[in-house]
This record gives sequence, C-alpha cells and structure tokens, in this order.
Amino acid sequence: MLELRQLHPTLAREVRGLRLWEPLDGSTLAELRALYAQYGVVVFRRQALSEAELSAFCALFGALERTVRGDWASPATPEVTVLSNLRDGLGRPIGGLGDGELQWHSDQSYMLEPATGAALYALELPQAGGATFWVDLRAAYGGLPRRLRAAVAGKRGIFDYTKRLGGYGRDADRQISEEARRLTPPVTHALVRAHPETGDRSLYLDTTTTVGIDYMDTASGLALLDEIYGCATSDEFVYAHQWQVGDVVLWDNGYTMHRRTAFDPAARRLMKRMTMRLDRRRHVMPDGRLAQSEIGMPI
Ligand code: OGA
Ligand code: MN
Repeated sequence: MLELRQLHPTLAREVRGLRLWEPLDGSTLAELRALYAQYGVVVFRRQALSEAELSAFCALFGALERTVRGDWASPATPEVTVLSNLRDGLGRPIGGLGDGELQWHSDQSYMLEPATGAALYALELPQAGGATFWVDLRAAYGGLPRRLRAAVAGKRGIFDYTKRLGGYGRDADRQISEEARRLTPPVTHALVRAHPETGDRSLYLDTTTTVGIDYMDTASGLALLDEIYGCATSDEFVYAHQWQVGDVVLWDNGYTMHRRTAFDPAARRLMKRMTMRLDRRRHVMPDGRLAQSEIGMPI
C-alpha cells in the first residue's frame, strides 16, 4: 500500500516513499494509476531524474506526446518540454512561458484531440512567486447553482489557440510555426463531460482559449462562460502547490484547470514538462470537433 497524504479534500494526493528512477512493481503501478484517475493531481517530492527517467516514468500512464510547441522541446529528448525564463549563452530562451502569470487553463484545450495527461518536474525555483494552483472541475460542476448547470447542459465551448498566444508576455512565445498553426484551428468541446467509470460529471473549461459558445452569440456566450469561471474557481475547489526542487506533479487536464503566478524575471525557474495520452477507459476525455465557422470557410 502506498503512503499517501491528503493535500485537498477531493483533489491532489502526495505519494511518499517512492523513488521514481527505480522500477515500480505491478501493484504499486496499479495503485498509482487509480490515484491519478481519482484525484487528478499526484505529487511526489525529492526526486532526482534524468530526462530518460522522467520520460520512462510518465510513459507508464500513457503514450508520450510531442506538443505543437516544438520550439520549447528539450534538444536531447523531444518529448520533454522545457518551461523556463532562462536564456542560453546567445540570449535565446531555453524554453517556454517565461516569468509571467498564466491564467486558469487546461493544457491542449485548443487541440481537436487534447492529450490530457501532464507532469511537471521542478529543477530550479524562484524564492517567491511561480506557484501553481489546480482546480477540481468535478467539484466545481457539483457546486454550480442549478440555473448555471441548466444553462451549460448540452453546450459546447469554442476554443482557439490564437487567444492563448495573445496572452503570453514574451514575443518568442507568441510566435508559432506554420505547422503549429495548421494543427490548431478553432475547435469545440462539450463543456460538461462524464467520467467513463464513475459517470461523475465535470466541467471542461479554459479561460485562456475560450472565445464563445457554439450556437450562442459571442457576447452571451462569453458572459455565460465568465459566470461559470467565477463560480468554478472558488477557493474551496482549488489546491495550491508550494513547489520544492525535486517535485514531480502529475495532473489530469480532463477535469482540472491550473494557473501560475508570475515571478521575478531576475530569478531562475526551470521546469521539465511531459505530456501523455491517458487511458480513455479511466480518464475523462474531451470530445473535440472542428468549429463550424472553420469547416464552412472558403480557402
Ligand atoms: C504547464 C503549466 C505552469 C507552471 O506546464 O502546462 O501551465 O507552473 N505550467 O510552470
Ligand atoms: Mn499549463
């Protein structure tokens, strides 16, 4: 049996006593997979991992994905994304996302088929700021006023990467390749999803990419989304993570959002980031479709 610490009532458990660079036995792995599906955020402290070891551990939860941000990939291991404000000897960013604030979002919500598994591994951290928060969108759905639950039923959000890019503080992060642009047309996802095993419903949201609701005029769609964001990100649904060097955090973007606070640009922060395709039999999957306006558009 794993030694666990509760970090939040419904979300986030810390697993103690594992060395993630060592092979895990079958029952430990089964327990970890179940924890990941049930709690959405799983924290391991005091890890010391090479990129190969981090990749091997994360691949236990799903096929590793190379994201559209090839420009943030680690030169040695393209499945590893480097997130950092640091620059190389020529002044070029060594990774993505800089030192700015990141608003509530779900990774890859702008993809037709988002890879919902993610892990962050902390290597260098600022003294202050750069904290990461996760919100449980199952609990948030349960906590919505009946009126909002009715309003969101059957609705699909429109998610557009262009909006996310516009929010980035650094020029380099706002630039994407032609290939990345081609892979990220506006898409829609149902705003409410059911868990494949438990049937529990959750919201699927991203304040940084949603530009409206399908079949609603833009202003009404955005107003409804704003109301939902206000309720859904209430403190009681949120786990605040205080990073320590050596932390590995796994999370499920299928029923959570996360945000990050800004930090001093002169401080150093270095994170390695993995992206996985989780098992659709035990994790909530978004159900992407191309947004209608794109399908009908003349070339
Ligand atoms: C991410 C992310 C936040 C952070 O990796 O998707 O949002 O704290 N990171 O770096
Ligand atoms: Mn993110």
